[in-house]
Amino acid sequence: MPTGVPERHQEEAVRWLRVAAHFTEALEDASLPHEALASMGCSGTEESPDGLTVAGYLPDTLGAWERVAEVGGQLLALGAREVEVRAIEEQDWANSWRQFFVRRQVGERVVVVPAWEEHEPSEGEIAIVLEPGQAFGTGEHATTQLCLELLERFVSTGDRVLDVGTGSGVLAILCARLGATVWATEREEAAVHSAKENFKRNGVSVRLFHTELLPRPPEGEEFDIVVANLVSAAHMRMAAEVARSLRASGRWLISGVIPDNWSAVLAAAEEAGFELQERVERGGWIAAVFSLGGDASDESDASDRSDGSDRPDQPE
Ligand SMILES: C[S@@+](CC[C@H](N)C(=O)[O-])C[C@H]1O[C@@H](n2cnc3c(N)ncnc32)[C@H](O)[C@@H]1O
Repeated sequence: MPTGVPERHQEEAVRWLRVAAHFTEALEDASLPHEALASMGCSGTEESPDGLTVAGYLPDTLGAWERVAEVGGQLLALGAREVEVRAIEEQDWANSWRQFFVRRQVGERVVVVPAWEEHEPSEGEIAIVLEPGQAFGTGEHATTQLCLELLERFVSTGDRVLDVGTGSGVLAILCARLGATVWATEREEAAVHSAKENFKRNGVSVRLFHTELLPRPPEGEEFDIVVANLVSAAHMRMAAEVARSLRASGRWLISGVIPDNWSAVLAAAEEAGFELQERVERGGWIAAVFSLGGDASDESDASDRSDGSDRPDQPE
């Protein structure tokens, strides 16, 4: 974690975070700190009249503090002497939050719709209806959008997909609607609850595991795709295990990587046997598609590829 960025205090019942970068001298061009804050998912950014502080407001949804830590590093690299993060109590948080979650088209066919909005899907459209609660994943954030766009292109009917860190369940729902059989994991209880509700709301069946570990692939099988929108360190930690869970020519779709971490993430992926197939960038976030590059006809038995000893095999 970069200096100047405080640790989260779990016991605080916070709803919004104010992230402020303090500079020693007024900036001539403050667009970079504004962009860094916006890329973190800040709904609004502001500058103090003396030009010494650039701040933004971020809903304290799950995963927010991990992003604050990453973007805090960017703000310090841009010359901030300190990055201050403060929790803001919000009287009517539920309704304030709702005004920032609006219907949004992502990719060719996907539309993410707030649960409180009436929406009649048009021909060929895939509408994902969400009540995110405190879970991350409304489709507003660039990292989620990049994943949705990649999944729309890469998931086919009958694929076995694992969504690691499902949050609101948005990615898992899209995969299920594209005809995949879907497994998902989530470590935070509140997000597990939101995801379950959203799976019901969208009429999809997803095997959800409340865990930080990767679930065992189906008996005698492997996943075709593993998708994960997480911080860089988590991708690097999981790379080898993801490789063992995938079929020989399977794909690993990742998002949530900042440019400073890209070379380390790429090196970890290559060390685990992945080849980079595609890399996309939006709003200061990188998403990538890696392939194991094997021959699909040369798939080995799942038990050969994973020891699976301490991994969950029963969904919630
Ligand atoms: C950035 S959010 C992504 C949510 C959603 N998949 C999306 O793309 O919008 C990351 C989610 O992963 C969860 N998470 C982080 N590390 C995890 C891990 N090791 N295993 C399971 N869940 C994890 C967090 O609680 C959070 O809900």
